[in-house]
Amino acid sequence: MKNLRIPGPTPCPSEVLQAMAKPMINHRGPEFAQMLDDVTAKLKQLFQTKGDVFLLTGSGTGGLEAAIVNTLSPGDKVLSVSIGVFAERFASIAEQFGAEVIPLRFEWGKAADADAVRRALQVEPKIKAVLVTHNETSTGVTNDLASISSVVKELGKLLVVDAISSLGSIDLPVDDWQCDVAVTGSQKGWMVPPGMVMMSVSQEAWQAHSTARMPRFYWDFTKAKNYLERGQTPWTPALSIVFALSVSLEMMLKEGLPNIIARHARVAKAARDGVKSLGLSLFADEKYASNTVTAVAASDGLDIKKMRKILSEEHQVVLSGGQQSLDGKIFRIGHLGWVTEDDIKAVISALEAVLPQAGFRK
Ligand SMILES: Cc1ncc(COP(=O)(O)O)c(C=O)c1O
Repeated sequence: MKNLRIPGPTPCPSEVLQAMAKPMINHRGPEFAQMLDDVTAKLKQLFQTKGDVFLLTGSGTGGLEAAIVNTLSPGDKVLSVSIGVFAERFASIAEQFGAEVIPLRFEWGKAADADAVRRALQVEPKIKAVLVTHNETSTGVTNDLASISSVVKELGKLLVVDAISSLGSIDLPVDDWQCDVAVTGSQKGWMVPPGMVMMSVSQEAWQAHSTARMPRFYWDFTKAKNYLERGQTPWTPALSIVFALSVSLEMMLKEGLPNIIARHARVAKAARDGVKSLGLSLFADEKYASNTVTAVAASDGLDIKKMRKILSEEHQVVLSGGQQSLDGKIFRIGHLGWVTEDDIKAVISALEAVLPQAGFRK
């Protein structure tokens, strides 16, 4: 089996995979209603919210679209706080649906600055919502969401958060940090294959929803809420993923959220220390380096493509490259979900063997 160390999809425990082999059930019957109720209650604990949480079928990007179309109207001004590829995608979705997007971009590898967010909101008081990526998977940076949130809320804006690669792995108390919508995906820290998005919706988001006019059909919070009250989802859910989630959430609650968060911090530190011990440099500002993905800069002759090929073919270690303008410039080690320090030690020792073969000269 490969040591799959990309930032999602992630490896899954065998109990989780076995749950997916269960026979189908009626998704409009009592057994599913019970399961959906249970999974939703567990998700609320892990989101640290008393608000609504919906489980819908799709990938993370669908969840981002849902967050936008349910809270905004064409012509609404939104501030896009961007530190990488996924923030740009979030902004593109808003733009596609007719929002007027005001970009606030920071250098890739750095975190967003809350004071700059404040200034941008003061310059344009008509901004209705702020789009933020909590953990930017493309650069391996985690934004200081608590500080950004306090500015956004002080100025009375909606806070719409891409928490796809952070929720369930990095601390994100959705209620304390007043996130109006927070979106995550099953294939990230949840130890489950791709297929479901999970998102929280605050009271303020519901107020925005009541007047939001962006077109929507599949992704509709009102439909999701009405169906959830009957123990259903509006459309046929990816049942096997719900079976898997039901097992993984049980495992997560058994470990306990504080322990999960601490494990991710420890594993991430092992990744950063290991990479540095090989003479490589981190791409991300270490102060904000992510606990779910470590981005490493290519330097000293390192051919990333060659390195990843040898790692996969000869050492069974699968790492990610860089996206868009970072292609060939960085590689990324995913360490979220079902991961221990030993998994990362294996990555570091494989890297040690492969780096000289891929042109790296310290
Ligand atoms: C931060 C972030 N946002 C959005 C996405 C897109 O999610 P998906 O590929 O599930 O649509 C990802 C996936 O890597 C991500 O890490």
